Amino acid sequence: MLQGKMKRGFCVSFVVWVVVVAAGFASVDGLNVWPMPESVSKGLSSLYLSKGFRLLTEGSEYRDESGILKDGFLRLLDVVESAHVVDGNWTGYDSLAALEGLHVVVFSPSDELQYGIDESYKLSIPATGNPIYAHLEAQTVYGALHGLQTFSQLCHFNFETRIIEVHKAPWVIKDQPRFSYRGLLIDTSRHYQPLPMIKNVIDAMAYTKLNVLHWHIVDSQSFPLEIPSFPKLWNGAYSPSERYTMDDAVEVVQYAQRRGVNVLAEIDVPGHARSWGIGYPSLWPSSNCRQPLDVSNEFTFKVIDGILSDFSKVFKFKFVHLGGDEVNTSCWTVTPHVKNWLKKQGLNESEAYEYFVLRAQKIALSHGYEMVNWEETFNDFGNKLNPKTVVHNWLGGGVAQRVVAAGLRCIVSNQDQWYLHYMETTWPQFYMNEPLTNITNPKQQELVIGERLWTPFDKLAKDPNLVAGRLAHFRCLLNQRGVAAAPLFGNGRAVPNYPGSCYKQ
Ligand SMILES: *[C@@H]1O[C@H](CO)[C@@H](O)[C@H](O)[C@H]1NC(C)=O
Ligand SMILES: *[C@@H]1O[C@H](CO)[C@@H](O)[C@H](O)[C@H]1NC(C)=O
Ligand SMILES: *[C@@H]1O[C@H](CO)[C@@H](O)[C@H](O)[C@H]1NC(C)=O
Ligand SMILES: *[C@@H]1O[C@H](CO)[C@@H](O)[C@H](O)[C@H]1NC(C)=O
Repeated sequence: MLQGKMKRGFCVSFVVWVVVVAAGFASVDGLNVWPMPESVSKGLSSLYLSKGFRLLTEGSEYRDESGILKDGFLRLLDVVESAHVVDGNWTGYDSLAALEGLHVVVFSPSDELQYGIDESYKLSIPATGNPIYAHLEAQTVYGALHGLQTFSQLCHFNFETRIIEVHKAPWVIKDQPRFSYRGLLIDTSRHYQPLPMIKNVIDAMAYTKLNVLHWHIVDSQSFPLEIPSFPKLWNGAYSPSERYTMDDAVEVVQYAQRRGVNVLAEIDVPGHARSWGIGYPSLWPSSNCRQPLDVSNEFTFKVIDGILSDFSKVFKFKFVHLGGDEVNTSCWTVTPHVKNWLKKQGLNESEAYEYFVLRAQKIALSHGYEMVNWEETFNDFGNKLNPKTVVHNWLGGGVAQRVVAAGLRCIVSNQDQWYLHYMETTWPQFYMNEPLTNITNPKQQELVIGERLWTPFDKLAKDPNLVAGRLAHFRCLLNQRGVAAAPLFGNGRAVPNYPGSCYKQ
C-alpha cells in the first residue's frame, strides 16, 4: 500500500481504470473484442438478433435456481441494446439470417464461486441453419457469464435498420483466463465510495473479465464498516453517513458473486489502523502515539479475532487480506507500557512486528481463511510466514521472483506500473507490465496467481501500438455502457486534448 502524500489519492481513479487492465492482440482484422480470447475464428456472414432472441438451456446440468444465468442473459440484452430503441421492421430482412437465440450448456450443477474455479467457455455462432442458434458451453455458470460478455461485444446496433446485428459469422471462440486472480482494489477508507459506485465498478469488472474485487475497507483514516462483535469500531468513520452496515457488505458480496466476482476483504494491521482507536482508544499505544496497534495489549488480538469472525460469515472468498505493510514501530519503543512489555518478552521492535503479523495469520487460519499480506512481511521475515500466505507485491520489480523461489504464492501489482492514482502512467505502461518477468521455472510461474490479465502470453502484443485501435474501441464501448473510461491518447489519464470521435481519443 502507500504512505504519505500518495495515500490520499489511492485508487480514487477507478472510474477510469478499465481502459488499462486486461490484455489483447491487435492484428486480427476488425476483431474488436477485449480482452482477446485464447483462440478465435470467424467468417464473412452477417446475422441479426431476432425479435424473440432467447435463452435456451436444454442439456445443462446446471439448474440456475438462483437465476444467475438468466439474469446474466438479461444483462446481455440490456448492454447490447444500450438504451437504443430496437424497432426494426423485422419482416423486411430476408437478406440477413436471423439468430433466434443462445443455447447455453453448463456442465457443473454448482454455482459456488471460489478461487480457482473453471472459468473457461466455448462460444460458437453458426452462419447457417434453420433456425440458427448460437451455442455457449462452459464447465461453470461463471465461465458462461464470460462467454456472454464476449457475445455482447460481437453485437452491434445498426442505426439504419434499428436492429442488432452480428457480423463475421461463423464464429468459434475458445477461451480461458491466463491468471486465476485478476483483481482491482478499491479503497473505501481514504475515500468512502457509495454502494451504487461499488456496484458500477463490479459491473465494469465483469465487462473486462476481472474476478476479484479487493476491498481495502478500513485504514488509518476511517473505519466505515459495521463490526457486530465490536460495535464501536465504526465510530471511526469519517461521518455518520459514510458507513456500511454488514447488510451492505452482504449486498456487495452477493452482487459481485452473481457477476462472477469474488470479494477479498482487507484489514491492514498493525500499521494502517489508527481509525480503530476512535471507538476503542486502548488499541492505540497512547493517545498521542496512535499507530501501529498496541502489540502488548491482548485486547488488540481479541478485536482482530472478532472482526475476522464476523468477516467469515460474510466474505466467503478463500482469502482474507491482513495488510502488514509500512509498519513504523516507533510508537512501540517510545510508549512506556509497550516498551516494558517488549523488554519482558525479550523482543525488539522488528521481532514484535513479526510476532504481530504471525499471530494475526493464526487468527485468520482459525476462521478458515488463507491470507494475503503485503510484501514487507516477506521482505522482513519471509521464511517465517505461514506457507498458506500469498505475498502481495506493490513496491516495485524483483519481488515476485524471490517470493516464488521461496515457494510462496504471489500477487503482482507493482505501483510503478499498476497504481491507478498515478494519473501520468500511460496505458502502454500498464499493458506492458508482465507479472512473470524474470520467472522462467514453470512450477514457480504457477505460484504467480495474478493480479491481472486474461489473454495468453503468446497472444499479447509485443508492441502496445498494435492494440491501440482495439482498446480505443473497447473504451468507447465502456462509455456506451455508462462507464466513464478515460481517453487513451494524451499523457496518462487526462481529459481529451481536443473535440473528436471517441474512437480517435
Ligand atoms: C415492413 O416491411 C414489409 C416488407 O418490406 C412491408 O410490406 C411493411 O409495410 C413494413 N411494415 C412497416 C410497419 O413499415
Ligand atoms: C515513525 O513515527 C514517528 C512517530 O510517530 C515519526 O516521528 C517518524 O518520523 C516516523 N518515521 C518514518 C520513517 O516515517
Ligand atoms: C532484532 O533482533 C534480531 C535478532 O536478534 C536482529 O537480527 C535485528 O537486527 C534486531 N532489530 C533491531 C531493529 O534491533
Ligand atoms: C528482473 O531482473 C532484473 C535484474 O535482476 C531486475 O533489475 C528487475 O527489477 C527485475 N524485474 C522484475 C519486474 O522483477
